[in-house]
Amino acid sequence: MLVIGAGGAGLRAAIEAAAAGMRVAVVCKSLLGKAHTVMAEGGIAAALGNVDPEDNWQVHFQDTMRGGQMINNWRMAELHARESPDRVYELETYGAIFDRTPDGRVLQRAFGAHTYRRLCHVGDRTGLEMIRSLQDRIVQLGIDVHMEVTLTRLLKDGDRVVGAFGYNRIDGKFVAFTCKALIMATGGWGRIYRVTSNSWEGTGDGVGMGFDAGAEVLDPEMVQFHPTGMVWPPGVRGILVTEAVRGEGGYLTNREGKRFMLEYDPRKKELSSRDVVARSIYKEVQAGRGTEHGGAFLDVRHLGADKIKQKLPSMYEQFLRLADVDITRQPMEVAPTIHYAMGGLRVEAETGATTIAGLYAAGEAAAGLHGANRLGGNSLSDLLVFGRRAGAAAAAHGREVGPGKIDERQVREEQQTLLLPFTADGTENPYLLQQQLQEAMQDGAGLAREEKSLKTCLDRVLELRQRSARVHVPGSRRYNPGWHTARDLRFMLTIAEAIVRAAIERRESRGAHWRLDYLEKDPALGRVNFIAYSDGGAMKLKTRPVPELPPELAKLFAASASPPAPQPPAPRPPQPQPVRR
Ligand code: FUM
Repeated sequence: MLVIGAGGAGLRAAIEAAAAGMRVAVVCKSLLGKAHTVMAEGGIAAALGNVDPEDNWQVHFQDTMRGGQMINNWRMAELHARESPDRVYELETYGAIFDRTPDGRVLQRAFGAHTYRRLCHVGDRTGLEMIRSLQDRIVQLGIDVHMEVTLTRLLKDGDRVVGAFGYNRIDGKFVAFTCKALIMATGGWGRIYRVTSNSWEGTGDGVGMGFDAGAEVLDPEMVQFHPTGMVWPPGVRGILVTEAVRGEGGYLTNREGKRFMLEYDPRKKELSSRDVVARSIYKEVQAGRGTEHGGAFLDVRHLGADKIKQKLPSMYEQFLRLADVDITRQPMEVAPTIHYAMGGLRVEAETGATTIAGLYAAGEAAAGLHGANRLGGNSLSDLLVFGRRAGAAAAAHGREVGPGKIDERQVREEQQTLLLPFTADGTENPYLLQQQLQEAMQDGAGLAREEKSLKTCLDRVLELRQRSARVHVPGSRRYNPGWHTARDLRFMLTIAEAIVRAAIERRESRGAHWRLDYLEKDPALGRVNFIAYSDGGAMKLKTRPVPELPPELAKLFAASASPPAPQPPAPRPPQPQPVRR
């Protein structure tokens, strides 16, 4: 079995498939351990009820659905809320060590739009701890990991996926894998934008490959801006400032020193959902109340230096080293940064099966769980819950089918496509095209969108696609970043087109999709998801009804119209001072 991607979802899927007796190979574009999972710093959401005993899976389920503005796949949200606690405890058996309550249970903190303190965490390095534990498990199980390999095409035998083709990034040699089932766990596509928390790997390869192979892409227009990325100096713009900063009680203020979230969401304040907080910062900046570099201040000084260093050690180091800012004494400067794709391959809730036989997806590469807006911390639990499920289902599929036949014609076609930038006498520079795409998406399909900006953006994307056929790359296939960029561009353009086409059609504001020309929700659009698909190579869009909630779950929403607002920890009472004699 083949797993593409070595983040949390890919590793958890590989562990499950190996446990089911499959021979598994994991392929990753980068190095094992270098995954975007690490960028979920503040915690993993699971209704353990260790800090707030009132918490349970039903409340977690409701929070997730409300956060996603009810266009989520309810079954995924249900499975996720029910199974996350077990996945957290299981992670402990792999060696993860979470922060503890005074009586030794897993500690949980507040996060945006979670009703209760629900985020199990390891300081502000939770994703890192998760990857470390999963990676250890992979090594213990002896699972093959092929690093620095980029796969670019799924190989099909008739309608079934039976392998993948690509190249080794170091020497440029072509590689092909055969498999009985393939799990796509390649993460998201933040690099399509100029300002992002994602690193260079996040170019949407898996979803692009799936699309080319005939799979459907659900909710592409739903792209999450995390409210707090670094702003200054320019070289660090977009790097994540974890939501744990607000979860621990950090305030957002404007240049006038006003705590503006009190106005935008008086109940949840800084712990409102990400779409609301990101828009609020944007509005403050637009109104001329932003910071010098176009953001807001995020202030934790009132927490005291000890607590800051204990609870937010990475943020302390990050600002000190990268921005020369001591956050125990100075506020941070932050602004929204592209962080997460709610959209991805359309999958079946229970199994992660896509619409193509033999192809499964999990984690950020799959869509449905988060709807129009993901709650912080739900990505880490998503990776574990649905990574495990996809691993099990793909293994079961693998046991049922015989080996597929590799079609040499498909391999030759892909070789030619990959070599084109060396042979074509084009003049286009891949870096320039990538940069122009990022500018176009940031300006036209960013946080605030409208018909005109989206249509201009679509024209730009289509023009860039045409120009990308004339990309030229000098040098050889041996480690050649220009060639890699030329290849990444192909999938980035596909995803960008899907984002913009769906964003044009969703003529309403919902979750992360904020249309300045349609500020309200349209109830009719709240009943559909948009799907991009390939029709003989051309991208088409269709709608699909949002799966209807069964009565026993629908009842939950009627029963609790207004859940309590999330609360950061109460300020510590003054500590007794030693008596001096
Ligand atoms: O802010 C954060 O720590 C990010 C968490 C997440 O994206 O889930």
